[in-house]
Amino acid sequence: MEVLHTIGEAIWFIFPAYVANATPVVLGGGPPIDFNKKLPDGNRILGDGKTILGFITGLLGGSIFGILQHLAYGRLGGWGIAILLSLGALIGDMVGSFLKRRRGLARGSPMPGLDQLEFIVGAVLVGSLIVVPRWEMLVVLLVFTPLIHLGTNLVGYKLGFKSEPY
Ligand code: CTP
Ligand code: MG
Repeated sequence: MEVLHTIGEAIWFIFPAYVANATPVVLGGGPPIDFNKKLPDGNRILGDGKTILGFITGLLGGSIFGILQHLAYGRLGGWGIAILLSLGALIGDMVGSFLKRRRGLARGSPMPGLDQLEFIVGAVLVGSLIVVPRWEMLVVLLVFTPLIHLGTNLVGYKLGFKSEPY
């Protein structure tokens, strides 16, 4: 029971990061954050998968979700950390794309591990300004999120929102 409680607590805590990560898939689009700029290696800084609208809607989506969570049941770190978790998730996602482009990987190409954990690591790091999760929660986040992420991406793919199932 202790274990189930920790799992629930960890997922409730990190949920704004998930929302921030998922919202751009549906509401993103338009001009890319890197304004089509390339680095001397010949590859885009971030690529077309990271858009300004996606960043804004992701930040709003995750933050609003976290505020609702807090109003409904309360959450660790209050609503303020929901904004940091969302911001961190989006930054982590951009760092992941930056690293993929430096390896010459095209937009949307898979990089197992990185694709599933970049946003969680970013969220936890930035969120740590307010709350550092207990180590049991961190274990849950690192083990469960790749599984949940793969599951939700498969759903997004089947629904036609994503062009790849991962
Ligand atoms: N998205 C966006 N803006 C962001 C993040 C994501 O518009 N800041 C949208 C894009 O349509 C993107 C989709 O969400 O294609 C899925 O995001 P992700 O899997 O992170 O991007 P990829 O297209 O796979 O690109 P990359 O190879 O850079 O990860
Ligand atoms: Mg991707």
